[in-house]
Amino acid sequence: MEIDLRKANEIFHDCESRVYDSKWGILYDSENATRVKQKFEKLLGGPFPHVQKLLEVGCGTGYVGLNLCLNDGLIDEFYACDISQGMVDACVKNAKELGLNVCAKRSELENLDYPDSEFDMVIGHAILHHIPDIKKALSEIYRVLIPGGICMLAGEPTKAGDILGRFARSLTEKFVRLYISMGGYFGGVPAQLKVHEANEETQRIKQLESVVDIHTFNPSEVCRIAKSVGFRVARFEGEELISSFVGWITRTIENLLVEENLTFRWRYWSYNTYLKLSRLDEKLYPYLPSSWFYNMLLYLEK
Ligand SMILES: C[S@@+](CC[C@H](N)C(=O)[O-])C[C@H]1O[C@@H](n2cnc3c(N)ncnc32)[C@H](O)[C@@H]1O
Repeated sequence: MEIDLRKANEIFHDCESRVYDSKWGILYDSENATRVKQKFEKLLGGPFPHVQKLLEVGCGTGYVGLNLCLNDGLIDEFYACDISQGMVDACVKNAKELGLNVCAKRSELENLDYPDSEFDMVIGHAILHHIPDIKKALSEIYRVLIPGGICMLAGEPTKAGDILGRFARSLTEKFVRLYISMGGYFGGVPAQLKVHEANEETQRIKQLESVVDIHTFNPSEVCRIAKSVGFRVARFEGEELISSFVGWITRTIENLLVEENLTFRWRYWSYNTYLKLSRLDEKLYPYLPSSWFYNMLLYLEK
């Protein structure tokens, strides 16, 4: 059966938009504002510049764009778009609650509903791996950027990172099931699997999850495609190695176990461990090939 990948993305993310921030532990505060800015500064190789018109593609609930806007005086005008109306609505709601302005609308990355040469910067986080036609997506970003404009895409899984993530997930799942079968405790009470509603609709949405993750990347190949659509500069960095391996383990545990097992202490420990390991990854980064890291960070200049 042929699947319309755009439609699948729209349906899946419309559904995800209701729980997205809590599922992924997304927060909007000064700590995350600094973390997101530093993520892009690693790619820029220097301070984040003042941006007049910023567009975030595949904005979701606004994790990177809104957190960037929380940095005083950094962004003048923030535009955001997503294929999912549910995500656009969630982004607007988050912006309102934060007292930020966002001009958000439903628009597909492969067919951006914006004029040519409109933005000085385009950003995206965890979007490119959902896009069937990477070349078309990059040429649309190129079109809406002003000459000299910059595009930065982050949070895209590399081929090596994906293998590591899958290994962590399947190992953890096997271990958790075995531990439960042996009567193990977690968070002071017997460990217990979450019971998922098994109605037809939720089953169908769950199946879409594996359909919408289309690509893992060889960063050099993406740079080659970016140059072929006209970008003058195309280069990449990597981020998260040990932190992503451990992050997949803790997220798999959280997705499998019931709320009573997941104490505040556990959540505090897992979040802080992730932060500490991210700092360790940054120390290791200069000594290891960047394509070994879980996420690709892409820098493009028109
Ligand atoms: C993994 S989520 C990431 C959301 C957000 N950027 C973040 O980092 O939290 C991927 C987002 O890309 C959007 N998306 C998928 N395909 C798209 C397309 N063709 N055009 C625009 N957005 C798309 C989804 O609706 C979803 O909101």
